[in-house]
Amino acid sequence: MSDQDKGKAPQREGASDSGAPSKKSSSSKKNLPPKAIEALLDMNPALKSELATMDPETAAKTIANLDLDQMLTGLSINGKNQKDMASYKFWQTQPVPSFEDQKNKKPVAQGPISIIDPERVPKTPGPLVDGFEWCTLDLTNDEELKELYELLNNHYVEDDNAMFRFKYSQSFLHWALMSPGWKKEWHVGVRASKSRKLVASICGVPTELRVRGERIKVTEINFLCIHKKLRAKRLTPVLIKEITRRCYVNGIYQAIYTGGIILPTPVASCRYYHRPLDWLKLYEIGFSFLPHGSTKARQIAKNLLPSNPEIPGLRPMEVKDIDAVYDLLERYSLRFDMNQAFTREEIEHWLVYKEQPGKDQVVWSYVVEDPETHKITDFVSFYNLESTIIDHSKHETVRAAYLYYYATESAFTENQAALGARLQHLINDALICAKQEKFDVFNALTLHDNPLFLEKLKFGAGDGSLHYYLYNYRCAPINGGVNDKNQPDAKKMGGVGVVML
Ligand SMILES: CC(C)(COP(=O)(O)OP(=O)(O)OC[C@H]1O[C@@H](n2cnc3c(N)ncnc32)[C@H](O)[C@@H]1OP(=O)(O)O)[C@@H](O)C(=O)NCCC(=O)NCCS
Repeated sequence: MSDQDKGKAPQREGASDSGAPSKKSSSSKKNLPPKAIEALLDMNPALKSELATMDPETAAKTIANLDLDQMLTGLSINGKNQKDMASYKFWQTQPVPSFEDQKNKKPVAQGPISIIDPERVPKTPGPLVDGFEWCTLDLTNDEELKELYELLNNHYVEDDNAMFRFKYSQSFLHWALMSPGWKKEWHVGVRASKSRKLVASICGVPTELRVRGERIKVTEINFLCIHKKLRAKRLTPVLIKEITRRCYVNGIYQAIYTGGIILPTPVASCRYYHRPLDWLKLYEIGFSFLPHGSTKARQIAKNLLPSNPEIPGLRPMEVKDIDAVYDLLERYSLRFDMNQAFTREEIEHWLVYKEQPGKDQVVWSYVVEDPETHKITDFVSFYNLESTIIDHSKHETVRAAYLYYYATESAFTENQAALGARLQHLINDALICAKQEKFDVFNALTLHDNPLFLEKLKFGAGDGSLHYYLYNYRCAPINGGVNDKNQPDAKKMGGVGVVML
């Protein structure tokens, strides 16, 4: 499988292959002075933490043998898997900005790239290769939900080393794909005509974004997946064109999607961070490393958390909190260049867990109710997304909590130190709650105000970035919370306020 096949993968904590000595080419071997090496490693914490697991002699040898070109590629957050525009045979035909557009420093006229004439949108799907046919999945039918689950469970996103694969549960898919206003036609599948087997999918749900004050109706695209045996046959462009057609037919001309690979052209790029909750398990499965000179006991102690949340008044969110959370999240979201214009109904759907027979809990939300005023001052949420551990004798899955939406009144005090201090408490309590719920790791991106707490709360830099894309919409680049060195940076906040599943 080529690197192009990997999307928003569950990447290992601080791991990197970019230093593989066997890939060294003599032309790129350079003797860098120690200061330059240090600067390069500071920019590439994944590699740095891999080197930290080695004894000094091996680390020195590894550095001496490093392929500088590879090391530099690893540095460039926006460089991973990037080809030049002419090589994107499909994407260069689509209404998306080119890399050149994005580099151009001239002010960007924000808005749709192409104006769609509804009359000219084909009423029927385009042709598929012989032996396959289009289908619309009925996800209210448990059998079809299970088919999608099985396709994804076996063929969806893996990390670069094929150690982990996302395992979206059936309850998760139910939650993610049947949000308010969902449309059956946007759950697109491809079946093998003879066997009826589901071999590919691409799905969308409707929502509204605000991009620098402009409201746009969009489809959130997700779960693009092709059976491993049907890869590299140019089926992706066919799937994308079909869901685009189905969106156009419904009068939606823009979309938002994310991925771990570079396509033309990210509007924003965020970096993954991971906070171990069960360090030993993460170590056993090869997700976390033992830094050189440390011990397992020390790593376990370092990641220990109090047994109970500490903010007075923190409790699970209930239906009665929806209005307060809606109001708080709305005000908080408006601080970001790109944010989701939630409706009250969406808040209820996405944040409030209601027990249902046969369904597992997917989202956990907590509010802080001031013990004196009873006002809701903060809220925080996370969702459960497990990954299969491929070929491991002891552990089958890793249970990951992903930080979802949160908001706090402290954001409106104009005092970044106070906001940072409050978020450290709030997110630390979320870590404690996730630990109580038996999660192994807590993941977060550098979006929202996350740079204010990630490192303080012992989140480690991951290998992966998540790139945000807008379809048929042009706007100036949006900050993803990281600087040129790919480090979380408070000066680069205020950009991304949308969390995609
Ligand atoms: C991603 C996946 C569908 C691509 O399939 P593939 O068989 O490798 O690629 P195809 O031959 O069908 O199509 C190639 C085209 O799709 C584009 N493409 C590849 N991955 C893409 C993605 N995640 N999103 C959008 N376009 C993508 C390629 O850039 C290429 O177009 P180009 O010529 O303009 O560069 C497949 O690898 C897969 O199912 N992977 C696991 C799940 C996954 O990563 N999903 C994406 C989550 S973001």
